[in-house]
Amino acid sequence: MDGRPLGARTLAHGATFRDADAKPFRYPPAPTLPKPKQTPPAGRLGVWLFGAYGGLATTVVVGARAIARKLAGTTGLATELPAAAGIPWQAIDGMVFGGHEIRRSDYAKAAAEIHGVTGSLPPELIGKLKKDLAAASRNVVTGVMPNPGRTIASLADRAQKRTPLKQQMAAIERDLRAFQRRHKLDRVVCVNLTSTEPPLRPSPAHKTLAAFERALAKDDQKAVRPSALYAYAAARLGFPFVHFTPSESALLPAIQEAFAASKTPWMGRDGKTGETLVKSALAPMFAIRNLRVLSWQGYNILGDRDGRVLADAENKQSKVATKDALLPSILGYPLHTHVGIDYVPSLHDLKTAWDFVHFEGFLGFRMSLQFTWQGCDAILAAPLVLDLVRFADLAQRRGEHGSMAHLAAFFKQPIGVAEHDLHRQWQRLVAYLERARGDRRL
Ligand SMILES: NC(=O)c1ccc[n+]([C@@H]2O[C@H](COP(=O)([O-])OP(=O)(O)OC[C@H]3O[C@@H](n4cnc5c(N)ncnc54)[C@H](O)[C@@H]3O)[C@@H](O)[C@H]2O)c1
Repeated sequence: MDGRPLGARTLAHGATFRDADAKPFRYPPAPTLPKPKQTPPAGRLGVWLFGAYGGLATTVVVGARAIARKLAGTTGLATELPAAAGIPWQAIDGMVFGGHEIRRSDYAKAAAEIHGVTGSLPPELIGKLKKDLAAASRNVVTGVMPNPGRTIASLADRAQKRTPLKQQMAAIERDLRAFQRRHKLDRVVCVNLTSTEPPLRPSPAHKTLAAFERALAKDDQKAVRPSALYAYAAARLGFPFVHFTPSESALLPAIQEAFAASKTPWMGRDGKTGETLVKSALAPMFAIRNLRVLSWQGYNILGDRDGRVLADAENKQSKVATKDALLPSILGYPLHTHVGIDYVPSLHDLKTAWDFVHFEGFLGFRMSLQFTWQGCDAILAAPLVLDLVRFADLAQRRGEHGSMAHLAAFFKQPIGVAEHDLHRQWQRLVAYLERARGDRRL
């Protein structure tokens, strides 16, 4: 014993170890370096939220304005981590918010409702942001509702005329251009935060852009859902698109083709914020210890509007599909899994998930792990939305387009990415940040 504490003699960050091949291995230094100076891009960024008065969108707008006014910190934002330092991110106070909605409300009212049921978004904060929230509310206009499914249709109270799809597309594009012009915005990023739509019945119209265009021209309302029109409008205008919901209609192959045609970055789907996030962090632990997972049962209970929409079996199908895909992919073998989602109105946005993991160890001995996750859904998701807006904007400024695969860590079902292990997804993001840091175009 040399008298030093044990930690000092074992491999600390930065220590070296020589393996049998005599190749030195160095642990990367702990990321505690002071932030290099960042120069945010000139100009203002428009952030267009489809589903503008929802619980999540309201928390995004309140949170961003609170950060801009220095009334709140940036806990929860990955773009504020030391690993993301040195990148000229869009400043939060230079973001201008607007969006489409199908319900009448305003941000102060929506925030007060949220406070009444979950306790987040305190009234003192809302009072201090009154003018900012009124300004953002003036940018919210009536959205479109082609074939939304019965539960979403029942939410709407803004007057809707049944117009042909081509006219609806033109209206969305007009709204977005007017927003950009009115606020002299240099760039605009679109984020889909609308209610989860039921899956669409497969149609040839989804396969190619030409077929999709023909379906719009024929006013084939059954071939689309609202998210499809919103995403297509973003693609046509060349506005980066973040698809945060599980709805499958937004990123159909035909719409991906439209993004490719306009060289626009996009990514989806379904933000990874709660139970699935924990799963994607924990499942690799079983894999690297060679512990065999036999069953993974997960039950989610939640209230609020999102829960009400997911209580409809049709809409629930979309969510279960995105939550259930990752375990066999991380573990590398099929296993018994179950994802239950039940609507418990009194919980509102304070969601609870209980997971039971049954696994087998050495000598076939069976053990279990259980965890309970109690999260406030919108509080978990809002900083991710701000991060994703910054990443999408960065990608466009770097001249990138197509699916932003480096953002897989943010999504339950990252389109085009087979990797679900949170740690590996994070490594990929860090590698991207390292490349972006040296980018002279920024
Ligand atoms: N942690 C999270 O909060 C989280 C995580 C992953 C995904 N999501 C998804 O994000 C979405 C929003 O979640 P939320 O909790 O804010 O739900 P919410 O029900 O509070 O908000 C959805 C909003 O979309 C509006 N809307 C519905 N159809 C529309 C249309 N055609 N055009 C314009 N607006 C429309 C609704 O009126 C509502 O205001 C949901 O799909 C949810 O599944 C949320």
